[in-house]
Amino acid sequence: MKKTIAFAMAAIMLLLCGCGAVNSDNGSGDVTEATSDTTAKSSNTPRHKVIIDTDTGSDDAAALVLAALSKNIDILGITVLYGNVSLDKAAENALMTLEVCHVEAPVYIGADKPLKKERKEMVSVHGKDGMGDQDLIHPNHTAEHGDAIDFILDTIKSDPDEVEIIALGPLTNIALAVQKDPETMKRCKRIWSMGTTGFGVGNATPVAEFNVYNDAEAYDQVLRAGIPMTIMGLDIMGNEETKFNKEELSKMAQGNEKGVFLSKAFTKLFAFNQKSGNNMMLPDPMAVACLVWPDVLLETKSCYGEVCTDNDSTYGQVILYEEGAVYEAMPQIGSYNLDVVTKIDTKLFKDSFMSVLTKK
Ligand code: RIB
Ligand code: CA
Repeated sequence: MKKTIAFAMAAIMLLLCGCGAVNSDNGSGDVTEATSDTTAKSSNTPRHKVIIDTDTGSDDAAALVLAALSKNIDILGITVLYGNVSLDKAAENALMTLEVCHVEAPVYIGADKPLKKERKEMVSVHGKDGMGDQDLIHPNHTAEHGDAIDFILDTIKSDPDEVEIIALGPLTNIALAVQKDPETMKRCKRIWSMGTTGFGVGNATPVAEFNVYNDAEAYDQVLRAGIPMTIMGLDIMGNEETKFNKEELSKMAQGNEKGVFLSKAFTKLFAFNQKSGNNMMLPDPMAVACLVWPDVLLETKSCYGEVCTDNDSTYGQVILYEEGAVYEAMPQIGSYNLDVVTKIDTKLFKDSFMSVLTKK
């Protein structure tokens, strides 16, 4: 009985402070309308009420564009944290990206460091400002005064079993919310995480993906929190046809306002990839594409995951045990609560993504 009253009270609070879905008509069309035969058609796509948790680098910004322009997604709010860039830059980059999309959503400040360890100094592949160092970031709006963790908990409390979290950075904010109120977090409908190497290799180390490597303890706590979770790992993003080449980058640059903005924001990320002779991978928009255009998501595998936190050389590795597979050293498996994406329609993703950035 007490829980119901708590949820009802939170609902009243949230309605009073008007922190509900605040997408205004962006006037620039939405991504659910197909613009060519190959782009996704998703008129009967389920709608998602989401909190986007992000460390706003340039690929996060691209993911925000897809979500902000999609009629299938109601952005209830954005919570930011350190990761690709510092916390304040993550907030400014998110605010600026929303303004470029002419969409309003509240942005809340979250964690500026991992749960336990100090922040790791890593190569900033997106540039110092996280957006290509092109002097793009001059937002008119500012972040909300409220705290990201409280926003996550209040929003889920006000609409239990309906709110999903799209996590595009380290899971520190979400782990802090689980620590503060684990029962409320169990009422989160689903977490969609761009994270882990999947069944492939890492980018932070050979065995660890950047978002997990930034705070493996947080990833571990969230995996154990009893929240349904879909994981989009690096392995589904790494093949050549999913990466973006110079011609596609210049197509974006000649596209609409969002295309021009993102093509500039990708400047450093593209150069970083080219240094090793590769085209540019965009993990976060690929993760969000699975909600914006569900036809992109072709296959998932039900898994149980264990995060390595004890040993420096394997720190951030996520070991995935597939349901039904028999391993000689079976761990004590709680539940197969992870849907790990193992196949996406890369052509549909890329065609639909390019259409959003070039449609005039
Ligand atoms: O490993 C890729 C992930 O780390 C992406 O979310 C990128 O933005 C960085 O946060
Ligand atoms: Ca990110």
